[in-house]
Amino acid sequence: MGRIRHGSVTKPAICQAGLILLLACLAGKPGAEGIPTSGLADACAVCHGPDGNSPASIPSIAALETDELRQLLLSFRSGELDSTVMTRFARALTDAEIEQLAKHFSQLPAAE
Ligand code: HEC
Repeated sequence: MGRIRHGSVTKPAICQAGLILLLACLAGKPGAEGIPTSGLADACAVCHGPDGNSPASIPSIAALETDELRQLLLSFRSGELDSTVMTRFARALTDAEIEQLAKHFSQLPAAE
């Protein structure tokens, strides 16, 4: 009576709900038009900085021409440009996402 039951019901149910939510978030990507650019660009921020001005020896991508950014990403994706890191990231991007990112970063000012 009144005792909390550490049953096999409560905990896994919560875990399961959490897992389903997580999967829904991961799998529930809407079409390319539906992904906010800021969300996409967050994936690049780890290495290229939140504003496209990269720390250390990673090349900055802010303020490059849209055409140049698009071409770079397409070349990474196709493997035409040899890259350890970027080929992997570019392979995960659709044409529409590359377009979004190219526009996004070309509009950001360079740090210098
Ligand atoms: C794990 C770190 C990392 C992440 C995440 C990352 N990059 Fe890169 N990026 C690099 C490195 C390192 C280079 C230099 C080329 C190489 O070695 O791959 C580079 C190069 C580039 C270049 C070429 C710049 C130039 O002037 O040559 C572009 C454009 C670029 N990244 C865009 C992006 C975009 C857009 C994203 C997000 C989808 C992204 N990167 C995510 C590490 C990263």
